[in-house]
Amino acid sequence: TASLKERAADKGLFYGSAARNNPLSSDQTFIANFIQECGILVPEWDQKWTSLRPNISTFDFTYADRLAKFAKSHDMLLRGHTLVWHQNLPAWFQEEVNGSNVEQILQQHINTVVGRYAGKIHSWDVVNEAINVKDGRSDGLRQTPWLQLMGPDYLDFAFRAAAAADPKALLVYNEYGLDYDSRDDKAKRSAVLKLLEGLKSKGTPIHALGIQGHLNGAGNFLFNPRKFRSFLRDVASLGLKIIITELDVLDKDLPKNISKRDRIVAAAYEDYLSAALQEKAVIGVLTWGLSDRYTWLAEDNSSGERLSLPFSLRPLPLDVNGNRKLVWNAIARAF
Ligand code: XIL
Repeated sequence: TASLKERAADKGLFYGSAARNNPLSSDQTFIANFIQECGILVPEWDQKWTSLRPNISTFDFTYADRLAKFAKSHDMLLRGHTLVWHQNLPAWFQEEVNGSNVEQILQQHINTVVGRYAGKIHSWDVVNEAINVKDGRSDGLRQTPWLQLMGPDYLDFAFRAAAAADPKALLVYNEYGLDYDSRDDKAKRSAVLKLLEGLKSKGTPIHALGIQGHLNGAGNFLFNPRKFRSFLRDVASLGLKIIITELDVLDKDLPKNISKRDRIVAAAYEDYLSAALQEKAVIGVLTWGLSDRYTWLAEDNSSGERLSLPFSLRPLPLDVNGNRKLVWNAIARAF
């Protein structure tokens, strides 16, 4: 049977996954599977500030360059992830960045990083996760170091800098929590729409919305395909493309029985993708990992250590040995 990238390509879409340089440079089974299934690669870790910026004056592109080379040598598209985020800022950031140097530092970061890969990047996640309606601002913006230091114009600033450094890349605003018919997700969808409208009306060079799509298998009854599609239509009507950027389905609170659990997870993928792919503005799909062996859901988010869980998670298309699971079939059918 054809691979996910081939099935996607038959429909004029792309499919791929996030990965870190390690295991993508060390695990032979994983490497072979990745080459077979993925038409696009996004660095899960190696382009983030903590990874690229050992200190305020230096850049370390060792691992990011290896991933770029991997993508190129296997004919994959490459995404950029991510230039402005409140997480994964290095320790020096808080001590050394202040209101008077922040613009210059962000400008230099974007020039250098985006400039280095200019012409080689399909799409950049310029700003990641800027909305948090629970932070109590009327514009819905999350309280982040960027907002505190630069004010709400930091988004426009970042997109303009990225456009100047790589006029060809598709520039993306990437966000999570947009999926369900819950009060939180509804509020977030409307704040994101307002943000996007505002950016478009200012002439900010933004080209797409990245919908992360971190789903929860136990909450799937909250998925309403009609409402989700109407959100996608609203985004598309602003003239924006849409990418599903980080799809996975958390199975922590599902039945332990593997065949039951796999069926529920696969159904969540299929419901979600069949709704999303009806919208013509959706140009591609990435999962946040390809193999269950390396899912971030089994990591402690702050320490990066593996969590001790009562059973191993199975949120991704391939199992820990690289074999295709029901999730794989679900994605294949949705394309
Ligand atoms: C996660 C990685 O998967 C983890 O390995 C890392 O420790 C933290 O970041 N949304 C995003 C991604 O945009 O960058 C996050 O990736 C997952 C949530």
